[in-house]
Amino acid sequence: MNDETGARQLDASQRDGLLAALRDALGATAVLSGADIPARNEKDWSTLAPQRPLAVVRPVDTEGVANAMRLCAQYRVPVVPQGGLTGLCGGARPIEGAVALSLERMVGIEEIDAASATITVKAGTPLQAVQQAADEAGFFIPLDLGSRGSCAIGGNLSTNAGGNRVIRYGMAREMVLGLEAVLADGTVVTNLNKMLKNNAGYDLKHLFIGSEGTLGVITRVVLRLSPKPGCTMAALCALDSYAHVVDLLGEARRGLGPLLSAFEVMWPDYWNTVTQRVPGVRDPIGGEHACYVLVEAQGMDEALDAPRFEHWLETQMENGVIANAALAQSLADVHAFWGVRDACAEFPQVLGPHESFDIGLPVSVMDDYVSACRDALQARLPGVVALFYGHIGDGNLHIVSCVPGSSPQPKEAIAETVYTLVQRFGGTISAEHGIGITKKGWLPCTRSEPELALMRRLKDALDPHHLLNPGKVV
Ligand code: FAD
Ligand code: LAC
Ligand code: ZN
Repeated sequence: MNDETGARQLDASQRDGLLAALRDALGATAVLSGADIPARNEKDWSTLAPQRPLAVVRPVDTEGVANAMRLCAQYRVPVVPQGGLTGLCGGARPIEGAVALSLERMVGIEEIDAASATITVKAGTPLQAVQQAADEAGFFIPLDLGSRGSCAIGGNLSTNAGGNRVIRYGMAREMVLGLEAVLADGTVVTNLNKMLKNNAGYDLKHLFIGSEGTLGVITRVVLRLSPKPGCTMAALCALDSYAHVVDLLGEARRGLGPLLSAFEVMWPDYWNTVTQRVPGVRDPIGGEHACYVLVEAQGMDEALDAPRFEHWLETQMENGVIANAALAQSLADVHAFWGVRDACAEFPQVLGPHESFDIGLPVSVMDDYVSACRDALQARLPGVVALFYGHIGDGNLHIVSCVPGSSPQPKEAIAETVYTLVQRFGGTISAEHGIGITKKGWLPCTRSEPELALMRRLKDALDPHHLLNPGKVV
């Protein structure tokens, strides 16, 4: 018996018994073991080393997930849910002796209900496929992340993903009306609610949203559909101080009101790296500036909203808030501007091994934090690279850091520097990517002991043997 997980070490005949029972219940093609285990299921996007699971189980429906959970519970074998494996903190990386439960074959749109403005999808469906289906039906899915082509909607909900349009539409949690989940013992809890209002008892879906696969496996999801925007306007702005960034955010909220759909900030170290080193990314502004801001607004009527955006931008330039700006003249320009921001997906190729962070801070102290963090990293690790950017309108800063040429990377020293300062500035260690395994030791920086104790009580209640993604989050 493993103390932390409550799991049992299987001998060879018990292992063969479990694999045979899984194949019996789910079909032979659903269970990959031995040399058939794909390398991709051994890790996520974190920098943790790959870990081979006992088997990869790939159900095609909820019943298959329930059977897999029931059999693994019977054999006391831990289960690690896997979506698109784009998570950045090791949540979907297998642990030793665990079954990886991949949702990759549970893909497809079950229903679009135009009257309710909802879409019902299987949890393994890639986010981009959900966005496309909504678009084809004349609606809009505002959830959007750089990993859209690979991440799955079940993974997005399990991490309560944020992304590019939180400032207007909220995080993944806000877009969910109903869901279905399978508990650690195989119980299926179905509530595919489509109504905006439903206060009949506890809102159980929130147990599964953002709990990173530790309380249940999400199998189906009902999302709210938004009206498709009629036009998208964007500007890349160069500013000469962070104080001007804060002013611009206030002016954007006031002047663009509900049209404001993104407010992304990039510090010069990030900007210079992506515009100079990522193929296909160009600098549409030129010159050296203190901060660069991507402002996006979505409207319904181009004839009214595009001039309104342009006028707002001109006013900010006349008032000296913005030093220089490029206004998108076409949708291709909008995509090119987002290319500067999404270029961080290329960091594995451009920087090599690096640590990445998704801290949250009050907007007012963000730049003080950036200066303090940059200085502290340089003092501790001479030659360190530290790039700062993020969803600053949401109080969410990303940091990417590495010491070029160092092997192994000084992961602990970088994390300790970043999180010690997060504590001092009153922030959170995770604004959007979650805790997984890599941030687990730092959770007490952000959560009080009574909060952690309540999390553990919930875990014990739903998964008394700690078989569902054990060792993750709490
Ligand atoms: P996985 O990595 O497969 O799993 C993530 C966690 O959820 C794990 O703990 C796993 O066990 C659990 N899980 C997966 N599926 C299920 C399920 N069906 N039921 C229960 N648990 C499940 N994140 C943001 O929030 N905002 C961003 O802007 C953003 N941008 C990114 C850009 C890039 C280039 C990359 C690589 C990642 C980015 N991410 C971002 C992180 C990542 O894409 C998100 O966390 C995403 O929501 C993970 O989805 P996934 O399907 O890949 O999940
Ligand atoms: C982003 C990811 C890293 O915002 O969250 O680019
Ligand atoms: Zn992000």
